[in-house]
Amino acid sequence: MTDTPLIEMTADTLRDHVTAELARGRARSAVLTESVDEADLVRQHSPLMSPLVWDLAHIGSQEELWLVRDVGGRAPLRPEIDGLYDAFQHSRASRVELPLLTPEETRDYVAQVREKALDALHDSRLSGRRLEEHAFVFGMIVQHEQQHDETMLATHQLRAGAPVLNAEPPPPPVAPPTASEVLVPAGPFTMGTSTEPWALDNERPAHRVDLPAFVIDTAPVTNGRYAEFVDAGGYTDPRWWSEEGWRHRVEGDLAAPLFWHRADGRWWRRRFGVVEPVREDEPVVHVCFHEAAAFAAWAGRRLPTEAEWEKAARWDPATGRSRRYPWGDEDPTPEHANLGQRHLGPAPVGAYPKGASPLGVHQLIGDVWEWTSSGWHPYPGFQMFPYPEYSEVFFGGDYRVLRGGSFGADAAAVRGTFRNWDHPIRRQIFSGFRCARDATPAEAGRVA
Ligand code: AVJ
Ligand code: FE
Repeated sequence: MTDTPLIEMTADTLRDHVTAELARGRARSAVLTESVDEADLVRQHSPLMSPLVWDLAHIGSQEELWLVRDVGGRAPLRPEIDGLYDAFQHSRASRVELPLLTPEETRDYVAQVREKALDALHDSRLSGRRLEEHAFVFGMIVQHEQQHDETMLATHQLRAGAPVLNAEPPPPPVAPPTASEVLVPAGPFTMGTSTEPWALDNERPAHRVDLPAFVIDTAPVTNGRYAEFVDAGGYTDPRWWSEEGWRHRVEGDLAAPLFWHRADGRWWRRRFGVVEPVREDEPVVHVCFHEAAAFAAWAGRRLPTEAEWEKAARWDPATGRSRRYPWGDEDPTPEHANLGQRHLGPAPVGAYPKGASPLGVHQLIGDVWEWTSSGWHPYPGFQMFPYPEYSEVFFGGDYRVLRGGSFGADAAAVRGTFRNWDHPIRRQIFSGFRCARDATPAEAGRVA
């Protein structure tokens, strides 16, 4: 991350920036794939996940497709493997049975691709063609690798056995929010972006959205609060669950967040191979949409819509502008948000006062992905770019939008406008939530 905004970088500066970002992503992929033995790399740790060696080769395959073949105009390195690493041809559960490249072949392959991708970067003018303008396609590939690194981190969390990952513990709760919720006054704001050079197609275009007044939590829901719901019998009372959610609750035998268990009269969790007591002041993680929605109903609240989340995160009441991030327009630093696998879990509430929004909403970026009540739909004026399989083919499906990124999401792949989505039953991802509610007439009438 440099100080000059992407949009103002000269081609030379951009090339240096892309080179550094590609290297940073690859260093992370290396940590995730070199910390386990060969058997662990090819093993299926969960039917929900690919073998780690598949993710690594798929990272290389996408990089080859876009940077080496398309931008670089070079011939395929290994045309025979294209199908193996096409996410649409094979379900995650079946990839373990494919004739995949061995770990050694995979490392060779991704290294060769990288060398040729850097040649393509050197040769590109980084302008003149929409795909290469402001190095968009390079940014897309940087984000793609970081996204799969987060996926591999989730695979590590599902892996049995002794811990292999190391990181500093998250920072302490230095300045918790002063209020538990804030009013976001009624009115229009700008959602999405038309100017962020590396924003993906689904974040575009910028458009006005007019929202009624609402109230939103200043922090994600904590383990302590969530445990109250569990201990109050929240999982055995269908009153709090949607019909679909209750059916899933019963069929999946859900009784607490994934990786929690009760022993000696308290809640414990397993995290990257370490079993420890659940810490009350940390955001709850590994809950599915249905659990989040049930908690909210029990608490007399609801989940925010995607638009409410983004207004709370980006809208600056002083200027009426939407910021790039809650704290302003600068890229995230370790002071702003818990991102990039710098820590191996969410930080306690109050750990990132510098990351708060103008309205005093904390930890919107990083820590845990936040479920919203919204389905996965295009913005008005959406134009697919550059390929339909990134976002378009998923629109209208059985998905809910998640916002803000997690401790396992890298800054390169998280923005105030970034949109993620998943099935409402998924909880192996680093997902949590915060609550919202409609403003009362008295609150709504109050001038901001
Ligand atoms: C945006 C996280 C839903 O992992 O399925 C990776 C990102 N797309 N390769 C996913 C993605 C293609 C995507 N999510
Ligand atoms: Fe992918």
